Amino acid sequence: MKKYVFAAASTLALAASSIAQAGPEAEVLHWWTSGGEAKSVAVLQQEFSANGGTWTDMPVAGGGGDAAMTALRARVLSGNAPTAVQLKGPAIQEWYEEGVLADISNVAEAEGWDKVLPASIAAHMKCEGQWCAAPVNVHRVDWLWANAEILSANGIEMPTSWDEFNAAAEKLQAAGVIPLAHGGQAWQDATVFEVVALGLLGAEDFHKAFVELDPTTLGSDKMVAVFDQMRRMRGYVDSNFPGRDWNLATSMVMNGEAAFQIMGDWAKGEFMAAGKVPGEDFLCASAPGAGFLYNVDSFAMFDVDGADKQDGQALLAKLIVGQNFQKVFNLNKGSIPARVDVAMDEFDSCAHLSASEMTASSEEGSLLPSYAHGMAMRGAQSGAITDVVTAHFNSDMSSAEAVKMLTQAVANSL
Ligand code: GAL
Repeated sequence: MKKYVFAAASTLALAASSIAQAGPEAEVLHWWTSGGEAKSVAVLQQEFSANGGTWTDMPVAGGGGDAAMTALRARVLSGNAPTAVQLKGPAIQEWYEEGVLADISNVAEAEGWDKVLPASIAAHMKCEGQWCAAPVNVHRVDWLWANAEILSANGIEMPTSWDEFNAAAEKLQAAGVIPLAHGGQAWQDATVFEVVALGLLGAEDFHKAFVELDPTTLGSDKMVAVFDQMRRMRGYVDSNFPGRDWNLATSMVMNGEAAFQIMGDWAKGEFMAAGKVPGEDFLCASAPGAGFLYNVDSFAMFDVDGADKQDGQALLAKLIVGQNFQKVFNLNKGSIPARVDVAMDEFDSCAHLSASEMTASSEEGSLLPSYAHGMAMRGAQSGAITDVVTAHFNSDMSSAEAVKMLTQAVANSL
C-alpha cells in the first residue's frame, strides 16, 4: 500500500511541478554565436526568464544567417517551426506569404510601436497591414574598422575616399602589414561589395541597382568600376582568407595582424566584448562614400500550437521592443536601438556617429537597405547577385564579364 501511496504522491508532485513550470515558453532560432553576439542574445534570454519565460535556445552558427535559414526551412517543412526566429527584411514577407507567421499586432498596438519606431523600420515589420515581426536594432553595414596603433605607426588617417583607401593599403602592404582583414565567405564578399558599390555608385544609383534592380545601372560603366575596386580589394587580403569567419577577421584587426576590416557594426560588439576602447584601441568611420546601409535584425513569431508558446511569443515581442532591452542589447551588439526614444548617453562615439548619420541620410534620401544582409530584395535576387560577386572575388574574372553576368543573373532570377 505504502509503495502505491508513494508512487501516487510522486506522480502528483511531478504533475504539480510541470503545471507550476507551465507558462510562457519559446524555442528561439538565431545565429548569434560569436563573443559579442552571444553576450547580446543572453540579454534577451535573461529578460525572458526573469519574466517567467522558459527559453529553449536554438543557435545555428554561421555569420550572416545562411545556415540558420537552411535550418528554418527544414523545421517548417517538417511541420515543426520554432516558436520565434531571427528573420529580417523581405524574408519576413516571404514567410508570411507561406501562411506560417503569427500576427503580433495586439502586442504592437498595446505597446504603441507605431509611435516609437521610424516608419522605414515599421514597414519591414508589417505583413499586409498586420505586425509580423519585432525589430531589435539598427546595424550599419558601411563601416571601416581599423587598428589605431597600426594606422598611427604608418602615418595613415582613416580614408575618406576609395583612392585614399587604396593608397593606404599600398603603403601598409609595402610595410609588410596585411591591409584588409577579410573572411572568404559569400556573405562577407557581398558585404564588402555593397560598401564599395555605395561609395562608387552613390546613393541614387545604389538604389536603382540594388532596390529597383534596374538593368541599365546593373550593367553600367560605374558598375564596372565597382568590380575594378573589388579586384584591388582582393589584392589587399592575406592568403588565409578563404572560409575565415567574420569575427576572426575582426580579431586580426584587434590583435594588430591587419589594419582594416570592412564589416557591419556587429564587429564593434567583438571589440567591446574584448574590452577594446573605441578611439583608442580601434577606430570606426563610415566607409568612403555618402549614405547609410541599414540592417535591422528582427524576430518573427511562427504559427505554433499551445497557449504557453503563444504566451511566449507575446512576451518575447513585448520585451524585444521594450526600452530596457533596446538599450542593454544594443550596447552589447554594436548596433543602435530601433526605438527612437532610447537615451543614447551610455552609447559610445561610434554609436553616436551611426545615429547622427542615420538621421542625416534619412533626411538626404541616402538611407538605404543593405542588399548583402537581406534588407533590399528577396532571396532569389540577392542570391543571384552574391553568386556573381563571390565568383568574381575568387577568380580572375574581368569586371566587364562580372557586370555581364550580374545583369543576366538578376534578369534570370526574376
Ligand atoms: C547579420 C546580422 C547581424 C550579425 C551578422 C553576423 O546578418 O544581422 O546581427 O549577426 O549577421 O553574423
